[in-house]
Amino acid sequence: MKRGLLITFEGIDGCGKTTQIQELISRFKDQFEYLLVREPGGTPICEQIRQILLDNANNEMFPITELLLYSASRHQLCREAILPALKKGKIVLCDRFYDSTTAYQGYGRGLDLEFIHQLNHWATDGLVPDMTFIFDISLTEREKRMRGKPKDRLEADELAFQQRVCEGFRKIAAKEPQRVHLIDGMQPVEVIAGEVWQTFQTIWREHSHANQ
Ligand SMILES: Nc1ncnc2c1ncn2[C@@H]1O[C@H](COP(=O)(O)OP(=O)(O)OP(=O)(O)O)[C@@H](O)[C@H]1O
Ligand SMILES: [Mg+2]
Repeated sequence: MKRGLLITFEGIDGCGKTTQIQELISRFKDQFEYLLVREPGGTPICEQIRQILLDNANNEMFPITELLLYSASRHQLCREAILPALKKGKIVLCDRFYDSTTAYQGYGRGLDLEFIHQLNHWATDGLVPDMTFIFDISLTEREKRMRGKPKDRLEADELAFQQRVCEGFRKIAAKEPQRVHLIDGMQPVEVIAGEVWQTFQTIWREHSHANQ
């Protein structure tokens, strides 16, 4: 029986995932036990898979190879880190999770969405985040925020692909409004952090009541 909370942070590059995770953690003030993980990566095996996925030399990679590597990394991360932490009652904060697969490999690369849905289910042993934040920014803003940073294989992808991914995240949010909170990522960091904190507190209260 799961006792902790799984919170995932999603959206295109530079939308503010890492920034908002740090903002949330700073508001925890030692009140909550948490585990922070990032995808792909988070364990030694997952970090090795990450190297393959992001390496600019691997531009021959086929979309299905990419999909399976992400799913392999996710399965390992779930079994090795996320599920054990949830069992201990921890709050697990995940910098990207399966919605990124749906957005990038599904909406972006055009792989079958139903197949991806099944694969996401398999890779996570059926685990669904208690709460997901998607930060929505324009592609122009993405460019601005990424300027000067060296681009990995996925970040370097062309504009039309990034547009489909961006739209994909919005569709995911529209499909599951209970779980997914679509937040305007163009707002100031503090304003977004306040929204995330409010939502977190609401879910935490519900969770605490349910566990009593
Ligand atoms: N709301 C915001 N307004 C303006 N700038 C922001 C905002 N949030 C984050 N930034 C800036 O944008 C850049 C990218 O933010 P961050 O690293 O948090 O994004 P990310 O979603 O984690 O990106 P990646 O997918 O590349 O890991 C950073 O320089 C950060 O300071
Ligand atoms: Mg980040």
